[in-house]
Amino acid sequence: MKKWVVANWKMNGSQDLLNAYKNAFSNLDNLIVCPPFVYIDKFGINLGAQNVHHLPNGAYTGEISAQMLADVGINYCLVGHSERRQFFNESDDLVKAKAVQCQESGITPIICIGESLSDYLNGQTSQVLSQQLNNCFPSSLKFWIAYEPLWAIGTGKTPTMSEIAAVHDMLRSHLPNVVLLYGGSVSSANAAEIFTISNVNGVLVGGASLDIETITKIYDFA
Ligand code: PGA
Repeated sequence: MKKWVVANWKMNGSQDLLNAYKNAFSNLDNLIVCPPFVYIDKFGINLGAQNVHHLPNGAYTGEISAQMLADVGINYCLVGHSERRQFFNESDDLVKAKAVQCQESGITPIICIGESLSDYLNGQTSQVLSQQLNNCFPSSLKFWIAYEPLWAIGTGKTPTMSEIAAVHDMLRSHLPNVVLLYGGSVSSANAAEIFTISNVNGVLVGGASLDIETITKIYDFA
């Protein structure tokens, strides 16, 4: 079965990168691109947002609701990315509220979870992930999960393949039918191996998604 590739540009990219994606990819149903909002554009590729507000509408200058995302044809939205949790103080409760808003608008939330370096070094990974599972998952199971160890994001470090497999096996035992992604320093050098892990349904790619040749290689492995 084909694996998913989700490209998270974060606050990077340009019209040129958008055009490069348009030229490289078209009508590929296992690629989802999450550009910054100003580049959100329909171009035959599944689109995801990087963030959404937790309320349906109102006087919240500068914010964007899930209904608006759905209105312009966006089908997926990252919620609870560790950079949102760290730099914008997003709590598990807020992440859950955002996920519910997405679901109510017909958007699939991709809920990001992951342990810190100290949790990892102290052998606390599964406890931390279970806590996040309990605190930020909505009652409806229409969501995806991205497991992203905080210490692997943008660092060039990743857990071993057996560690990634163990976490995904644990998640799968709780969530038999949920799409499970791995994220954190995914590159053209490690993607093929990550895709061989049976409970990994795809990858969430940050830095490597900004280079069209690299993301094309990763996509080809999928
Ligand atoms: P990275 O980011 O691929 O640059 O490590 C992944 C992410 O934060 O989603």
